[in-house]
Amino acid sequence: MDFYEVIRKRRSIRSYKSDPIPEAALQRIAEAVHLAPSACNFQPWKIKIVTDPGLRAQISANYTRDWLIQAPAIAVIIGNSKQCWKRFDGTPSVNIDIGIAMEHLILAATAEGLATCWIGAYDMAKMNAVLGVVPPWNVLALSPLGYADQEPTNVPRKPINKIFEIV
Ligand SMILES: Cc1cc2nc3c(=O)[nH]c(=O)nc-3n(C[C@H](O)[C@H](O)[C@H](O)COP(=O)(O)O)c2cc1C
Repeated sequence: MDFYEVIRKRRSIRSYKSDPIPEAALQRIAEAVHLAPSACNFQPWKIKIVTDPGLRAQISANYTRDWLIQAPAIAVIIGNSKQCWKRFDGTPSVNIDIGIAMEHLILAATAEGLATCWIGAYDMAKMNAVLGVVPPWNVLALSPLGYADQEPTNVPRKPINKIFEIV
């Protein structure tokens, strides 16, 4: 897939087939995450691809939509708010850094013909406990990883001239 085709193809998918993901595809996705930029190159993240059914069930219990458990894997990104660069006012860069890494993962998955849906609406302390994560590490985002079992509906965007200008 050409880059812009990947960008257009990526959508949030909320229905999955249970078909397994080829190991080679997961390795290419890992390489794409590995190349993600981060402030000062601190790479304040860890990524887990959870395939264990018991652990997937526990993660899904903290995000109660039936489609998360349908996918054969859940990608989890864990960020460290202490090991990241801080802006001059002290604001940690970890959310930006993990956002970029997660998007690398999502776009690589799309290029592999896989579907994803960024999930952030969960209780972080409970998700940390399920995954054995202790602050300053935190589970900052996750996504089902698998083959889509739906065509996404159109989700409108703001008019391009309202959000993008050449000055
Ligand atoms: C930071 C972030 C958090 C999100 N959290 C959720 C979520 O908890 N559950 C969900 O179903 N979608 C979630 N989404 C997906 C958005 O709803 C989706 O990207 C947006 O509606 C645009 O649709 P599209 O991804 O299909 O283009 C999240 C997206 C982002 C970037």
